Amino acid sequence: MQKATNIVWHEGEVTREDRHKVLGQKGATLWLTGLSGSGKSTVSVELEKQLLMRGSLSYRLDGDNIRHGLNKNLGFSAEDRTENIRRIGEVAKLMGDMGIISMTAFISPYIADRKIARDVHEAAKIPFIEVHIDCPLEVAESRDPKGLYKKARAGEIKNFTGIDDPYEAPVEPEVKINTAEQSPEEASKTIIAYLVKQGIIP
Ligand code: PPS
Repeated sequence: MQKATNIVWHEGEVTREDRHKVLGQKGATLWLTGLSGSGKSTVSVELEKQLLMRGSLSYRLDGDNIRHGLNKNLGFSAEDRTENIRRIGEVAKLMGDMGIISMTAFISPYIADRKIARDVHEAAKIPFIEVHIDCPLEVAESRDPKGLYKKARAGEIKNFTGIDDPYEAPVEPEVKINTAEQSPEEASKTIIAYLVKQGIIP
């Protein structure tokens, strides 16, 4: 693929602050990361409900869903996972610029890829909150909601995260949730308390 040249940024006349005033909130990204079956999607679904009940507009960007559309041309090689996360980092940044709280639910197994997503947010001055959806591999594997661990153990799926592909856990996530101990409702309350403490939502 050839990179585009001769492209110039075009500034608009409506500012981020104007948009946020219309929406009555600021944007931010909650970057959920964790093993398959750790509970990322379940927590993000509950969180979306709780935020809506508080009057905050949020939107879920979920790995399985996004891979049906925007990222349908990507697989699970390290290179494709990196591109998957790069694109979602950019989409979440745009949503934050709009004034939406996005919740990304991607395994996002590589520290370096998550850092790229963090860096684009920091450069754009949009809060990036890394949420480690932590859960021991044995627990995620025992849940196996889609039967994928079973297939990976049987060698029917290659490069499955946690089995024959790496997961690099966050070192200093802003929020850490242990889904073997916390229910999705409790996890969502913990995350919302963080957003309130940071002044992101009232
Ligand atoms: S990544 O690593 O962030 O690019 O992955 P993501 O976009 O979140 O997609 C993960 C979901 O894809 C399914 N799946 C796999 N996961 C991991 N490794 C392999 N090889 C794989 N093949 C398919 C699986 O359903 C993941 O969903 P979750 O919700 O995480 O269980």
